[in-house]
Amino acid sequence: MQHKHLKPFPKEFLWGASTSAYQVEGASLEDGKGPSCQDVKSVPVGTTDLSVCADHYHRYKEDIALMAEMGFKVYRFSVSWSRILPEGTGDVNPKGIEYYNHVIDECLKYNITPLVTMFHFDMPAALDQRGSWSNRESVDWFVDYARILYENFGDRVKYWLTINEQNMLTLVGKVLGSLHIPEGCTNELKEIYQQNHHMLVAQAKAMALCHEMLPDAKIGPAPNISLIYPASCKPEDILAAQNYNAVRNWLYLDVSVYGRYNNLVWSWLEEHDATPEFAEGDAEALRMGRPDYIGFNYYNTATCEEEDGTCEVTYAENQQDASGEKGMFRAAANPYLTKTEFGWLIDPVGFRATIREIYSRYHLPLIVTENGLGAYDKLTEDGRIHDPYRIEYLRKHIEQIQLAVTDGVDMMGYCPWSALDLVSTHEGMVKRYGFIYVDRDEFDLKTLNRYRKDSFYWYKKVIETNGSDLT
Ligand code: BG6
Repeated sequence: MQHKHLKPFPKEFLWGASTSAYQVEGASLEDGKGPSCQDVKSVPVGTTDLSVCADHYHRYKEDIALMAEMGFKVYRFSVSWSRILPEGTGDVNPKGIEYYNHVIDECLKYNITPLVTMFHFDMPAALDQRGSWSNRESVDWFVDYARILYENFGDRVKYWLTINEQNMLTLVGKVLGSLHIPEGCTNELKEIYQQNHHMLVAQAKAMALCHEMLPDAKIGPAPNISLIYPASCKPEDILAAQNYNAVRNWLYLDVSVYGRYNNLVWSWLEEHDATPEFAEGDAEALRMGRPDYIGFNYYNTATCEEEDGTCEVTYAENQQDASGEKGMFRAAANPYLTKTEFGWLIDPVGFRATIREIYSRYHLPLIVTENGLGAYDKLTEDGRIHDPYRIEYLRKHIEQIQLAVTDGVDMMGYCPWSALDLVSTHEGMVKRYGFIYVDRDEFDLKTLNRYRKDSFYWYKKVIETNGSDLT
């Protein structure tokens, strides 16, 4: 649709950016923090461990001051479960509570709204040993943890996100260092979808608890949503795209918003004897826990075609794409899109299409909780970082948000990935996303000093003008 006039961004639009605890904080075993599954995993060859990251734990004041200088209205960060509960359950670590109190207060000092993710890929290692999400008790572990967060931070945190990218945890958990398959498991698909079910129930219960304990707070999920295109108008390709959309995207939002499983996914699981077992009360819990808004991460779209059941296709060892699923869909190339240096597709128009689709299915306010470009940025001798590629990427995506606003979508805010450079999920420190450059290399910690990238100044202007000046 071509509009005659663009609508402005809403007055209260939340401009900001995101980070996650295990990728940014460092201090991985300091001040009483227990290890998480990320601290004990073997990191991909050639990449740093997660003990220091961007050292945000010690430098959060400086970082939040820089965010304030950019004019942030919101800062999305995650709480490390094992910093709060070193064993995952049981005794609370007072130093952990103190640290997040400081971060929250520092945000509020600058009128930055804290947007808190409760779980971002970092299951406490102690709970990992007890089976992680495969253990039915994980539902209670998560709800108890949520209660502690609400009790301690709920007086100041008004926006919550439950589980970051639950769909990626389910689809590519191995790449994220979080997949836990119990020994002797004979049906991996069933096991994975049982874990997924536990997360869905845990999330629903945490949302209901939030509404009960913090009536003026808002809470939502944060999946990674990418619209799936059919490779052609061949009807079988359309069906394949519907299949992949259901299994990658809608399963998660259908359950969070409507409290019911997506029928296509359910039928597919039935065929593989992989439907999750419902414990007593699960169906009701799913119906009762409803989000107030939807947070979603968007990096790119994907394209697929018919898979007639004849070839062996599986999920790829890559975070974003699947090569296919037997009898459901097969990944196809999209000749219209370019790629980042790290091989990720770039599709700003697909961003608008994704936003429209989510809104038309769920009619809840939307906030973009991640979107961004990973690149090999270079610090020049005079302390500058010229990143026009990032500015161009972000500009094109912000333009599409404004078009979506003009389409009538209720957009709450935009939090690109990431506020500052941090360690990528599986491609190390050299894959940088931030507005703020962190002076360290993969293995050489250097000064850890902060530098403003060109995109820093550009984003500051975007926020100052509420998105009306994107030049
Ligand atoms: C999202 C995750 O999938 O993508 C982040 O929520 C992650 O944790 C981001 O860092 C970018 O991915 P990567 O693999 O480039 O770090």
